[in-house]
Amino acid sequence: MTINYRVFGYEDYAQARALWERASGVGLSDADSPEGIRTYLERNPGTSFVATDARIVVGTVLCGHDGRRGLIHHLATADSYRRRGIATVLLQSGLRALRARGIDKCHLFVFRANAEGTAFWRAVAAEERTELALFSLPTKGD
Ligand SMILES: CC(C)(COP(=O)(O)OP(=O)(O)OC[C@H]1O[C@@H](n2cnc3c(N)ncnc32)[C@H](O)[C@@H]1OP(=O)(O)O)[C@@H](O)C(=O)NCCC(=O)NCCS
Repeated sequence: MTINYRVFGYEDYAQARALWERASGVGLSDADSPEGIRTYLERNPGTSFVATDARIVVGTVLCGHDGRRGLIHHLATADSYRRRGIATVLLQSGLRALRARGIDKCHLFVFRANAEGTAFWRAVAAEERTELALFSLPTKGD
């Protein structure tokens, strides 16, 4: 098994989507439509990555920024490829790309019930922000 890492391109959408749908812990929404991901990748060129094995997508991370802070979404490794360091390399690739764009900190969301996701973020020494609460608001309907 040889794992390769490269920038996430729109052509990876179908395989990535299938991976996300299988990976409990990845929250999917309208923003993950093909058009949504195309827009995301156009706004954030070169900062999201896939891991592949013989051209099959076995890992993903979406990394973007707003010019001030970075945001990480959809870090996922296919079941049979876990615990081989793939998510760690994907994350490092994303962080490096954000750093190269002048971003020195990024945030991410993890479901409280997601034990493996939580274990991963702790393992990479991400800071758990227990002093913060997350609020969301739609832009329509004011
Ligand atoms: C979380 C996830 C991305 C980790 O992917 P991975 O490729 O297996 O991660 P890595 O191999 O790089 O793990 C690095 C370290 O994280 C920790 N870790 C990862 N998965 C873990 C688990 N299930 N239980 C405990 N620790 C875990 C370990 O310390 C691991 O190092 P080790 O294997 O040397 O002990 C993967 O389990 C996944 O896709 N889960 C479903 C989607 C998800 O929850 N994503 C996170 C959304 S916030």
